Amino acid sequence: MLSTLAIANYRSLRSITLPLGRLNLITGANGSGKSNLYRALRLLAETAQGNVVSALAREGGLRTTLWAGPEHISPRMQRGDVPIQGGPRHESLALKLGFAADDFGYAIDFGFPKPSSQSAFSLDPEIKSEAIWAGPFLRLPSVLVDRRGAMARTRDGRNWRIVAEHLNAFESIFTQLADPERASEVLSLRESIRAWRFYDHFRSDVDAPARWAQLGTRTPVLSHDGRDLAAAWQTIREIGDVGSLDAAVQDAFPGAEVAITVDEGRFGLLFSQPGLLRSLSTAELSDGTLRYLLWIAALHTPRPPPLMVLNEPETSLHPDLLPALARLIVQAAKRSQVWVVSHAPRLIEALESVPDCNVIRLEKDFSQTQIVGQRMLDEPAWHWPER
Ligand SMILES: Nc1ncnc2c1ncn2[C@@H]1O[C@H](COP(=O)(O)OP(=O)(O)OP(=O)(O)O)[C@@H](O)[C@H]1O
Ligand SMILES: [Mg+2]
Repeated sequence: MLSTLAIANYRSLRSITLPLGRLNLITGANGSGKSNLYRALRLLAETAQGNVVSALAREGGLRTTLWAGPEHISPRMQRGDVPIQGGPRHESLALKLGFAADDFGYAIDFGFPKPSSQSAFSLDPEIKSEAIWAGPFLRLPSVLVDRRGAMARTRDGRNWRIVAEHLNAFESIFTQLADPERASEVLSLRESIRAWRFYDHFRSDVDAPARWAQLGTRTPVLSHDGRDLAAAWQTIREIGDVGSLDAAVQDAFPGAEVAITVDEGRFGLLFSQPGLLRSLSTAELSDGTLRYLLWIAALHTPRPPPLMVLNEPETSLHPDLLPALARLIVQAAKRSQVWVVSHAPRLIEALESVPDCNVIRLEKDFSQTQIVGQRMLDEPAWHWPER
């Protein structure tokens, strides 16, 4: 389970350290930084997939994603005595992402290449440093893997062992060092990050993959786009919690039933509801019904991921369905750590009333995302690796 997430200089997240619980609800007004937080977590996940530099490039590169404000906003600027202005920099421009979990913590620091770089990719971000440590925040005695530029070393008893001297600046240690011989922590952390699941706006248009029968194999985890809905549903029926699956359908759609059809290996889903003479296929379902079935399947996975992130799950659901969705989410949070980004009042209200729900309300102050009510002392301890 992640206990802390820290981000610096990523869009409106100039410097933020969040304490995390088992069930986390992120809310706030439009533009407060909810999606930025979601994207930052997703970028962190991309490091383990080996795609973080290209993911940053797709977002417009480091220049676009870096915090666009000054390094510090002084009290005089805040009072409006002087205009908001840059001034000389004390620290190098750096986009930093990190988290601490029960077992290990990890942080990565991106910067610009040296201006002398002869490469045609001179705008690509470079990984300046990375670290893996044991414990709630980085401290020198607890560092296990320390990467600075092209060099990486691991802890060997009381000494350091240099395990690489020619790392590529555009690839993380998860790509270059994940072998059990040199750095077993890298490998185990990479595997756990790879299991994180992100669900972000399931498609429900006529061409949406979830609307059409698909070749099916056993599917313990619903894919990000929900294309394997019927196979995932059938997998839950065979190896998951069928009672809870059926109860979730009844909770949202009283009297309705879901059936799975298999035709030459293609799996389809039929939905029967009271008052109709025949069942409806997924192609005929309303957007909201289809999306809700996708949530039921995602949240009943027989192989719960360590972390599940749901971005605005309320999309196209009627407010009356949101309390049922909240119950589904609370159930899932018993098996995975869950993040919900939402601004639907009924969903927020239902989740807020759950005793150990960690509610993080974001607001913007001088364009910087901050946590409402977080004072310096509430902020979890955090240190970034040095360059
Ligand atoms: N490079 C940047 N530097 C500083 N701020 C930025 C940068 N890029 C985007 N922003 C700010 O981030 C804010 C958008 O945040 P985000 O998309 O996370 O909002 P949101 O909370 O998801 O809002 P909504 O509810 O509308 O989806 C914008 O208001 C914009 O001002
Ligand atoms: Mg948003």
